[in-house]
Amino acid sequence: MASSLFILFLTFLAHFLPLSVLSATVLEDLATLTPPPDFITTITTNCLHNPLLRYCNNTTSSPMDIAEIFRSTIVASHLCNESKNPNCVESFPKIRIHNRPKTAALYLSFDFFWKYCPLTVIEIDLVNNSLKSEFPTNLLSCAQIRTLDLSYNQLTGSVPIQSLSRLTNLTHLNLSYNRFSEDDNEFLKRFNASSFIHSGLLPDVKRYKMKVLVLLIVFPIVVLLLSCCLGWLCLKRPDYLPRTCRRSHKFTSAMIDAATDEFSDQRLVGKSNGVDIYRGTLRDGTEAKIEVYTEKVSKAKRLEFEEECEAVLKLRHKNLVRVLGWCNSRNLRALVTEWTNGENVRTWLDSSLASSWRRRLRVVMGVLEGFSYLSEQWPEIAFDLNTSSVLLADDGQEPLVSRFKIGEGNNSSTNIFNFGLFLLEMITNLKPDEEQEDSERRYLEYIRVHCPDNAERVVDEKLKIEERTLEKVKEAITLGLMCTEKPPLRQPSFTQIYDTVVSLYESSSRHH
Ligand SMILES: *[C@@H]1O[C@H](CO)[C@@H](O)[C@H](O)[C@H]1NC(C)=O
Ligand SMILES: *[C@@H]1O[C@H](CO)[C@@H](O)[C@H](O)[C@H]1NC(C)=O
Ligand SMILES: *[C@@H]1O[C@H](CO)[C@@H](O)[C@H](O)[C@H]1NC(C)=O
Ligand SMILES: *[C@@H]1O[C@H](CO)[C@@H](O)[C@H](O)[C@H]1NC(C)=O
Ligand SMILES: *[C@@H]1O[C@H](CO)[C@@H](O)[C@H](O)[C@H]1NC(C)=O
Ligand SMILES: *[C@@H]1O[C@H](CO)[C@@H](O)[C@H](O)[C@H]1NC(C)=O
Ligand SMILES: *[C@@H]1O[C@H](CO)[C@@H](O)[C@H](O)[C@H]1NC(C)=O
Repeated sequence: MASSLFILFLTFLAHFLPLSVLSATVLEDLATLTPPPDFITTITTNCLHNPLLRYCNNTTSSPMDIAEIFRSTIVASHLCNESKNPNCVESFPKIRIHNRPKTAALYLSFDFFWKYCPLTVIEIDLVNNSLKSEFPTNLLSCAQIRTLDLSYNQLTGSVPIQSLSRLTNLTHLNLSYNRFSEDDNEFLKRFNASSFIHSGLLPDVKRYKMKVLVLLIVFPIVVLLLSCCLGWLCLKRPDYLPRTCRRSHKFTSAMIDAATDEFSDQRLVGKSNGVDIYRGTLRDGTEAKIEVYTEKVSKAKRLEFEEECEAVLKLRHKNLVRVLGWCNSRNLRALVTEWTNGENVRTWLDSSLASSWRRRLRVVMGVLEGFSYLSEQWPEIAFDLNTSSVLLADDGQEPLVSRFKIGEGNNSSTNIFNFGLFLLEMITNLKPDEEQEDSERRYLEYIRVHCPDNAERVVDEKLKIEERTLEKVKEAITLGLMCTEKPPLRQPSFTQIYDTVVSLYESSSRHH
């Protein structure tokens, strides 16, 4: 009786046992039931009717495994019942196990069943079973399925796109709520995005929202902050910018502030009328002399100052100090020049090196050369000529005029007057006593009284001169006095001065 039913149903359905023969759980049935004697005949008949049945794949390399085929019919019968198909005797269209992790995992483990997956199955639905494996590829033996729903599991790894795409009838796929690794594939585009909600396969909406947030809010803020930073740097500390994007000669007051340690007294090396002189260190480590003009000036004057600074920046002469830049902001005007370690002429005059007349004339010549270059290149600029502002380079030969008078305009008569004082000081090693009132007039008066007859009285004792040279020294004193003549109409011209000094210098060489 049982065996005839077998044949009947197997013929009909082609592959599984009638429920009536099943008595216990699937595992018990697998352990106890054995194929009936006519089982081979039954499946041979089935294969004749429908050779596409998976167990009919009978080749010499893998001949039919009758026991295995029998076991798969046992699983099929149980699974059909578990899946609540309405009439497992006649059809088995759905594999459907919801919310039953243990059952689902057990059936998934029957590889021999999936190998012979019944052709009638068109839907596989294993929703919410906490499956923790990789994608269950044995399901894909059911190549005819139209629906596959694996949502609400914990599947990991990558989706076997290649195998899935061979399921040509698959129209409804749901992999949502899993943990697959993201994969961008043409195949997945066949399906609506709702097939992959929280599956790991598509960029998460949350992550997408984060990106949008970043793009719309964080990015502009960062850009804004960066521009603020950059703007601040440009305005305040361009020395922090790369060299190529700054006007390197233009110093801001913040830069001067930093270079002079906020105008600290330790940095202050000198003061003269309207100018404070600091020894500063620029951000790149360069030492610089920073002359700060303390007088407040009008806007027009500031423009003029700027123009003159632009001009002195271009000056290049061996007897003129190199200008590095300037600052011209509303509350600070300053000129930044290179720092030179050489001593100034004032202190040099007191040293034994200054005993040579020829050497002293050499210094005067150098100053005149710088003077001449300046009056040709930029006649509006004067320099603050005195023995303290002229430095000697290390070899003690070339004088370096180190202070320009910017913003005061040039006045050739004043320049010549100052040169006269400089020349006289070079000869006498005496200078106007600044403490005294009217000091320059008194000083000049004192020299005029003694010259030319008692010139020896005013000539610096340290100066080693012979009788013949004394005449030349007197000539030089006379030139100095002429330069300091007032009214200026009686001053010699610059050319006259230059020629006289050159001829004095040349004659001094003949005596040595
Ligand atoms: C499988 O093939 C062998 C020969 O290769 C044949 O003897 C056997 O009958 C076949 N079985 C079925 C069920 O077709
Ligand atoms: C038949 O069996 C062989 C080996 O087991 C397998 O490679 C092949 O895919 C099977 N063919 C079909 C149509 O199931
Ligand atoms: C078939 O399923 C019903 C409930 O759906 C269950 O009561 C019955 O025991 C199952 N039969 C077998 C043989 O598993
Ligand atoms: C999944 O199954 C659990 C019980 O196993 C149930 O509490 C939960 O509501 C189910 N979730 C969904 C989305 O079906
Ligand atoms: C897809 O369905 C058609 C019609 O139902 C069927 O003929 C075909 O064999 C199926 N494709 C696969 C791969 O099973
Ligand atoms: C995607 O599927 C959902 C539900 O299945 C549907 O409401 C929606 O319209 C579909 N969207 C597209 C673009 O097909
Ligand atoms: C897939 O399952 C999720 C969760 O149940 C659902 O929100 C979504 O609409 C489903 N997608 C499709 C294409 O059925």
